[in-house]
Amino acid sequence: MTKALLQLKPLTYSQIPSIVDLDKLCLGGIWIREGYEREITSPNSTLLVLSLSTTGSNDREILGFGCLWAILEEAHITILAVKPHYQGRSLGQLLLYHLLTDAVSRSLERATLEVKEKNTVAISLYKKFGFTIVGRRKGYYQNGQDALILWRGGLNTPQFQQDLGMWQQQISSKLSLHNYSMYHDS
Ligand SMILES: CC(C)(COP(=O)(O)OP(=O)(O)OC[C@H]1O[C@@H](n2cnc3c(N)ncnc32)[C@H](O)[C@@H]1OP(=O)(O)O)[C@@H](O)C(=O)NCCC(=O)NCCS
Repeated sequence: MTKALLQLKPLTYSQIPSIVDLDKLCLGGIWIREGYEREITSPNSTLLVLSLSTTGSNDREILGFGCLWAILEEAHITILAVKPHYQGRSLGQLLLYHLLTDAVSRSLERATLEVKEKNTVAISLYKKFGFTIVGRRKGYYQNGQDALILWRGGLNTPQFQQDLGMWQQQISSKLSLHNYSMYHDS
C-alpha cells in the first residue's frame, strides 16, 4: 500500500497563500498575509506547517498548522488547525505535541491558549495534554461566545519529559493506523 509521508516544517513564504486560505476555512480568518509574514521573521514565534505527500510524488498538500508565541516563560498557542477532511486522524495532536516540544526547547515553563467554550473537540484535545480551564472571557468572540482560558504548567519538569515520550509513542501508533509515517530530512 502507498505510504503517506507527513512532514512538519516552519512556514515558508511560498506557503502563505495556502495558509491564509486554510485559516479562513478552519478558523474564519484570524490573520491575513502580513500576519503570517510576521510569524516567519519573529524570533519569538514558531509556526509549523504539516504537509503530506504520497510516495513517488513531489507535490505536498498542506493539512494543518500550529503556532506559538514565546512570551516571557509562557508559550501562547495562538493557532491550531487541521484541514476539515483530515480532522479526527490524530493530526491535531501531532501538531500540538510538536508545539509543546518546541516550547520545551525554548525553556518555557507554561503553555496557555484561548478556545471557544463550545469547541468540544479542541477542548478535549487540550485536556489530553494536561491543559486545565482556569478562566473565561465573556463574549470574547464575534459570535458572542465566551472564550475559555486554558493553562498547562510544568513544561520544565522531568515528568513532562516523560509525558512527551508517552504521547510521542501514542501518536506514532495512531498515525500508523491511518497509514501515515513521518518524513525526516536526512
Ligand atoms: C481542533 C482540531 C485542531 C483537532 O485536530 P484533529 O486532527 O481533528 O484532532 P485529533 O484527531 O488529533 O484528535 C485529538 C483529540 O480530540 C478529540 N476529538 C477528535 N475528534 C473528536 C470528535 N469528533 N468528537 C469529540 N472529540 C474529538 C479526542 O479527544 C481526540 O483524541 P483521541 O483520538 O485520542 O480520542 C481540529 O478539529 C480543527 O482544526 N478544528 C477547527 C479549528 C479549531 O477549532 N482549532 C482550535 C482552535 S483553539
